[in-house]
Amino acid sequence: MSNIFKIAILPGDGIGPEVMKQAIKVLNKIKHFLNINIITNEYSVGGSAIDKYGEALPKKTLLGCENSNAILFGSVGGPKWDYLPLNKRPEKGSLLKLRKHFDLFTNLRPAYIYNNLFTLSPLKKNIINKGFNILCIRELTGGIYFGNPSGRKGNGINEYSFDTEIYYRFEIERIAHMAFNFALQRNKIICSIDKANILNTSIMWREILTNLSHQYSKVKLEFMYIDNAVMQLMKNPSQFDVILSTNLFGDIISDQCAMITGSIGNLPSASLNNKFFGLYEPAGGSAPDIAGKNIANPIAQILSLSMMIEYSLKNKIISKKIENAIKKVLKAGYRTQDLFTNQLNEKIVTTEDMGTLITEFII
Ligand code: IPM
Ligand code: MN
Repeated sequence: MSNIFKIAILPGDGIGPEVMKQAIKVLNKIKHFLNINIITNEYSVGGSAIDKYGEALPKKTLLGCENSNAILFGSVGGPKWDYLPLNKRPEKGSLLKLRKHFDLFTNLRPAYIYNNLFTLSPLKKNIINKGFNILCIRELTGGIYFGNPSGRKGNGINEYSFDTEIYYRFEIERIAHMAFNFALQRNKIICSIDKANILNTSIMWREILTNLSHQYSKVKLEFMYIDNAVMQLMKNPSQFDVILSTNLFGDIISDQCAMITGSIGNLPSASLNNKFFGLYEPAGGSAPDIAGKNIANPIAQILSLSMMIEYSLKNKIISKKIENAIKKVLKAGYRTQDLFTNQLNEKIVTTEDMGTLITEFII
């Protein structure tokens, strides 16, 4: 790796810019610990890019990303741009394009329960007390999100619309290899989630995974139907280690994984290609209802930065430093509004304060 590491910063819409500001505070602190020169460049994306340049992913932004070593992404979308045709909206017009363009087929969404946030989980005490630590791995560049044909035809009561769930063998094989390798670094259990009692794509998915599992004899491979999986996640999340799934099922199940931790505001994600080039973004979305109020939780954005340091810079020591700072801030009782449960030691802080506190707690 050369001695310069360029990060494309794409704050986007809604709470994106304000939580991104906090991640940059953290970055400015930790860059002195890294033995590499960090260069950041900010680019417009999503709805704010539509307003400014007429398109969700301007050429300058894409070029900037291509010339970087990693992308730190905020969030895109909001009701303001919902009138646009699907392909021009911030979500499909920028985020999905970036995922496809850089072939970011592996989406990692780690969800675990913080010691001091047990009261926040909507799950019952006897369930949550067992704890959990799940790595959700979602296939991100295939399936129904990108399948053709997709569209709308016909007239009157015969008008119809359609999307295609399609998976190529190579797409399943490469995400499977990723999942097996991540499982090897953890508790070595993969639960692959599908709908193999109904879908052809799921039957092929199971077949390919089963065959590949022989190359990874240390990993235990299990399968679960998506409908059962959402129940099991509520009933006993501690049974899961790695959850692997398709693009659509992974979208759904990762939100559930986030919610059982108590707040979607804590869930980061890494989207990687086979060279470990990555786009790092919070899983929670742009939350336009709370944007600009200085109340959003910046933890997911800061943890996304921490994942960048772990996976793109391969520096686990520094990424752990950030995670530990977050743990300490939570232990000290500081909470953004979404994390507040009215416990004795809890103090509500703003987005800005949370960012500053986490930065200060990094040692
Ligand atoms: C996510 C989001 C996106 C998705 C949207 C914004 C397109 O929900 O990253 O989970 O569905 O992938
Ligand atoms: Mn989602």
